[in-house]
Amino acid sequence: MTRDLRALPKAHLHIHLEATVRPGTLAEFAAESGVAVPKTLVFADFTEFIEAYLALAALIDSPARLARVVAEAVGDAAAEGAVVIELATTPTWYTDLYGSVEAAVEAVCGYAAEAAGRYGVWTGVIVAIDRTLGPEHAMTMAGTAVEFAGRGVTGLGLHSEERGFPAAGFGAPFALAREAGLLAVPHAGELVGAQSVREALDVLGADRIQHGVRAVEDPALVAELAARGTCLDVCPTSNVLLGVFPSLADHPLPALLAAGVACSINADDPTLFGPGLLAEYTTARTGLGLDDAALASCARSSITASAAPQAVKEAAL
Ligand code: ADE
Ligand code: ZN
Repeated sequence: MTRDLRALPKAHLHIHLEATVRPGTLAEFAAESGVAVPKTLVFADFTEFIEAYLALAALIDSPARLARVVAEAVGDAAAEGAVVIELATTPTWYTDLYGSVEAAVEAVCGYAAEAAGRYGVWTGVIVAIDRTLGPEHAMTMAGTAVEFAGRGVTGLGLHSEERGFPAAGFGAPFALAREAGLLAVPHAGELVGAQSVREALDVLGADRIQHGVRAVEDPALVAELAARGTCLDVCPTSNVLLGVFPSLADHPLPALLAAGVACSINADDPTLFGPGLLAEYTTARTGLGLDDAALASCARSSITASAAPQAVKEAAL
């Protein structure tokens, strides 16, 4: 008998709000808006993937749609056995809908709190910088995140194209976020190698790293991640579909765990890649060969490394 993975208490720590839209909801939105359903599953490269992502975001063009997407994301998390979810978004996409970026974040936090209550899933919001949008945008995201620290926002993220937009350029916004008690949760080590993970630790003071998997290219860095207890929020299917690794057989999650690195398992962008959180745990079992002890350790790490309060963590562990 293998362990029931749905029943394993876990946190979904690396999940982009706009790419949680259920396939049926997406089809409805596209039909109502009279546009084609954005491309999914097969992407020529990261640039084509980001275009599909932005097409998804463009379909969330009313407060009712945004409220529904948040509620369905939290509902799906509950159905998959998550007790915590941290939903990441770049709120500038909703500025026009709500009149200001602050009002947009307030709305997302409100929908998240309502869904958390309805489904019994502790829910945080990660406000994310789009690394391609310049320093002013980065500081606005940090300032807005700080304004909502303790009122729904739990972390500052760093999304989109890693190549040509190194962490070194984002020290100031992340310092602001960390001073306010937010978690620093940048993407690193996805499209760029170990050096990017090193910068996320040294320059941004990363509490967790979204992906971080290419740290495996530097054994000293892997040892440091293990010693520090920095959790990598790993997304196996995303990494294969975006060509970070040629196949699941080449994925370093088992090696990182064997080296003592804390790792969580996540879906990243289920609308675009297919599997949700539970399916990613199943993939880690069947495609990566993780046994029940390793899967339970990933679930435990996800809870421990989350932004949830201690009482929520203790109840789940
Ligand atoms: N935005 C959505 N998914 C992403 C990913 N995997 N990497 C960077 N930015 C993203
Ligand atoms: Zn991501």
